Amino acid sequence: MSNKLETEIVAIEEQQDHGESVFPYAYFCKSDGATLEDAKAWVAQHRDALLDLATTHGTVFFRGFPTGSVEAFDEIVQSLGLPNFPYKKSLSNAVRVNRTERVFSANEAPPEVNIFFHHEMAQTPLYPKWIMFYCEIAAEEGGATPICRSDVLYDRLAEECPDYARDCETKGLRYTNVMPGENDSTSGMGRSWGSTLGVETREQAEDRLKELGYSWNWREDGCLEATTPVLPAVKEISPGRKTFFNQLIAANSGWKDSRNDPSKAIRHGDGSKLDPEATKRAIELAQELTFDVRWEPGDFCIIDNTVAMHARRPFKGTRKVVASLAEMETHGL
Ligand code: FE2
Repeated sequence: MSNKLETEIVAIEEQQDHGESVFPYAYFCKSDGATLEDAKAWVAQHRDALLDLATTHGTVFFRGFPTGSVEAFDEIVQSLGLPNFPYKKSLSNAVRVNRTERVFSANEAPPEVNIFFHHEMAQTPLYPKWIMFYCEIAAEEGGATPICRSDVLYDRLAEECPDYARDCETKGLRYTNVMPGENDSTSGMGRSWGSTLGVETREQAEDRLKELGYSWNWREDGCLEATTPVLPAVKEISPGRKTFFNQLIAANSGWKDSRNDPSKAIRHGDGSKLDPEATKRAIELAQELTFDVRWEPGDFCIIDNTVAMHARRPFKGTRKVVASLAEMETHGL
């Protein structure tokens, strides 16, 4: 099954150069007549190399491939041969809708909502190693997916704010968030506690929280306030290569809705408050290191979730960027 699909490695506009790696790494498809079957065969054939590239560079971006529908993208994802990480099993706080078995809407939050930089589910004990995004419909205006290299960010932070970087690494972090009794689609973090924990009753919720090492508190209005066990904030992905693998930026900037107050969302593992100046600097560094993925329909990418963060810019018009997650990892607790 030698395939007819020809690709080119491209220095995409505004691509970052980080010495031994670029960000993002990009392939353009060069064959006009290639079919979905060709694309699937190419992905399957290069699977190991593509995943290695995603880890080395943080993100691999693909344009011009014959991937004309969400169903086709599902098949591309399948040809990577990775175990699925179903949204239903995740402890993600976002409201999402499944489109196919492996593909779901990235976030149902309204267009004007800015979703801040995060590593998918780094604030929960279970997280996916890989994220695949696919653009079905590009927004009329805005709607880019900003991405940021967390290893580069960590190196810069360790240089500029060494005490802070060390505190994050040695003390870890605990996150607190308030989940509503019912899904609230007006919020980027509106998933109900029942859906988040995959339970129906309060007793079942408490069992699940105990199992995960959380502490909690029921509110009079039916909301659940839950605090994670101490989770690592820095991950060594290979000897000497560390990433700022945590949810500090999103928790500080974005965990705000009618129930949540970002100033209470995050503490070091010993309960101490984070240095606000250094936190501000970490957020600024992420902005400085941003690459905006400006979607065209049919584009897709593979992100190593332990290396790169992602976000969502506000947009106008209809935007459908869907996601698929693969390979469950734990914080090693
Ligand atoms: Fe996300």
